Amino acid sequence: METAEHVVKETAQDFLPLNGTDYIELWVGNAKQAAHYYKTAFGFQSLAYAGPETGVKDRVSYVLIQNKMRLILTSPLKSDSPIAAHHRKHGDGVKYLALWVDDAYEAYEKTTSRGGVGTQAPTTLTDKHGEVRVSGIKTYGEVEHLFIERKNYNGVFMPGYVEWKSTYNPEPTGLLYVDHCVGNVGWNQMNPWVKFYEEVMGFKNILSFDDKDISTEYSALMSKVMSNGNGYVKFPINEPAEGKKKSQVEEYLDFYEGEGVQHIAIATKDIVSTVRQLMARGVDFLKVPDSYYDDLFDRVGQIDEDIAPLRELGILVDRDDEGYLLQLFTKPVEDRPTMFFEIIQRKGAKSFGKGNFKALFEALEREQANRGNL
Ligand code: FE2
Repeated sequence: METAEHVVKETAQDFLPLNGTDYIELWVGNAKQAAHYYKTAFGFQSLAYAGPETGVKDRVSYVLIQNKMRLILTSPLKSDSPIAAHHRKHGDGVKYLALWVDDAYEAYEKTTSRGGVGTQAPTTLTDKHGEVRVSGIKTYGEVEHLFIERKNYNGVFMPGYVEWKSTYNPEPTGLLYVDHCVGNVGWNQMNPWVKFYEEVMGFKNILSFDDKDISTEYSALMSKVMSNGNGYVKFPINEPAEGKKKSQVEEYLDFYEGEGVQHIAIATKDIVSTVRQLMARGVDFLKVPDSYYDDLFDRVGQIDEDIAPLRELGILVDRDDEGYLLQLFTKPVEDRPTMFFEIIQRKGAKSFGKGNFKALFEALEREQANRGNL
């Protein structure tokens, strides 16, 4: 009885049920070339297109897909576009973290009535394939969460887009879905945004890292992981912490000229194969020192993988109470030292690689020092 009541209470509390990430949209300087990069280097497939040919006058958008992950790359066509202003300030970066819901009107009502700032009033988009309902609210920086309802739609992506058939289709690399998406916020802004995710979106703080967990000799950051009720959507929030030198989060804030998405973690079920392919296609990864592997088994115990390919590719391993995970981080994918990707394979572990933070951040600081920003 107590358990049943507990379940009912937990479900009732989830006022914003999410089915997962619907898509991530980046506003970039040259979407045509960015689409080529994400196809060639990451193995995304062409899915849909919107632009002047489809009646959209001020922008072009390319929709890419790999398994369950959809990525949109959008560029402005004129200098007076808000997309151009966004790009001038931030460079390439994430504008929309779109979430898949069963009712976009209700999601908007529930979040805005709890203090969320609406950016897109609920709208119903229709074409011959049905309807998609969309709404949106603001989160940190200039990032917005869109709520996408597509249960009455059977087209390729959304009204306004046409299918994009390309003759250039590089093989996928085994990327499956968005595991989590991390935001960098300013000094003393982590807790206010934690509160936003708790109060406005009904998320819970499932893990916290203070500056003692995440510090090297030189720099530090703090992080809290926010998760929705079913755990399909996880948003860790980082803020800089005081250290002897400049925190990696500060470097991001300086170069992005504001708060924004720091990294997108994408799941794979075979990280050795995925990373090998990404490297062969020109994706650059952070490299930890070879000595990281000398005491690997002492730290993480037995794992299914051979150590040789992990060492060769620089893949990191960490264990928690529930299992282990393998992960690796790309270098920033823009010229500004801003957004990057994480490739992650979970084998039971639900955490985020705390045991790797030190080695990882030392590797990051070497890159930061090379840029003259440490
Ligand atoms: Fe991560």
